Amino acid sequence: MSVSLSGRNFLKLLDFTPEEIRYLLDLSADLKAKKRAGEAHRYLEGKNVALIFEKTSTRTRCAFEVGAADLGMHAVYLDPSASQIGKKESIADTARVLGRMFDGIEYRGFGQERVEELAEYAGVPVWNGLTTEFHPTQMIADVLTMEEEFGRDGMRGRKVTFMGDAGNNVGNSLMVVCAKLGIDFTACGPAEQMPDAELVKTCRAIAAETGSTITLTADVAEGATGASVIYTDIWVSMGESSDLWGERIRLLSPYQVNAELMARAEDDAIFMHCLPSFHDRKTTIGEEVYQKFGLAELEVTDEVFEGPRSRVFDEAENRLHSIKAVMYATLR
Ligand code: CP
Ligand code: NVA
Repeated sequence: MSVSLSGRNFLKLLDFTPEEIRYLLDLSADLKAKKRAGEAHRYLEGKNVALIFEKTSTRTRCAFEVGAADLGMHAVYLDPSASQIGKKESIADTARVLGRMFDGIEYRGFGQERVEELAEYAGVPVWNGLTTEFHPTQMIADVLTMEEEFGRDGMRGRKVTFMGDAGNNVGNSLMVVCAKLGIDFTACGPAEQMPDAELVKTCRAIAAETGSTITLTADVAEGATGASVIYTDIWVSMGESSDLWGERIRLLSPYQVNAELMARAEDDAIFMHCLPSFHDRKTTIGEEVYQKFGLAELEVTDEVFEGPRSRVFDEAENRLHSIKAVMYATLR
């Protein structure tokens, strides 16, 4: 049966079947090959997309803008501080206005309910560019990156471990995509930072159908041993208070991805991170945290980040190809 996502929203991966996710992965690989070959793919010539960012971004914004241009579309970036969204106009009203002018709308912001509401009223496909709960476009790029290493469908039966703040948007989404695709997933971190119990239950039910497992552990040795992928993310996410740094450092330092931790994983294991990352003092926040807490490297050491097993920049590039696939699949 052929898959069509035409006219669909892309709000969270729980809404998609394994076959639909497979379709997006294959489309991403195909668009990547075309881009590499310099083969034009202006399939959506004349369409227009709106990009709403209530939180900052480098990768996601650039992937949507460059992806839209490659597909022949025009993209309009909306900075909430310079638009009416939220202050003078509700999400529902904004959705109905933008839906009259644009063929698709990307939203990055706070609660998942906001992007769901936008989609309810827009009448055109809405794409989640990150919410507090989920980061679904990131996952298509991530599995594509894993498959470039281990082969198409080569992740089935392998173990992917998220180290640290496992209950954040990226940890949650990684658990969902692994369950959907039959990949064994381990969330390794302190009990305080684990994914929501309801979401774990949902993912375990999905994993039971796809023949994979969902494991939660506070034990680093258990989390890292046998893993083909060690994944981590920053310890304080956008929208969270900077006052949390002290507590998060206390809770999450044992889960820092360093050479010793990587040595516990499989010999061919790769390191992944959605980025941005605090692996040195070359950022304002990295330096502030160093001055306050004396830690120069946070969720990952510079050695691992820059090391031979790191795939973080392939992963970042794949954001472009996968976001392009999501736009093309839903607008074609
Ligand atoms: N990984 C990711 O979403 O990066 P940006 O915040 O730069 O978009
Ligand atoms: N968990 C991070 C992901 C950034 C891409 C955040 O929400 O800030």
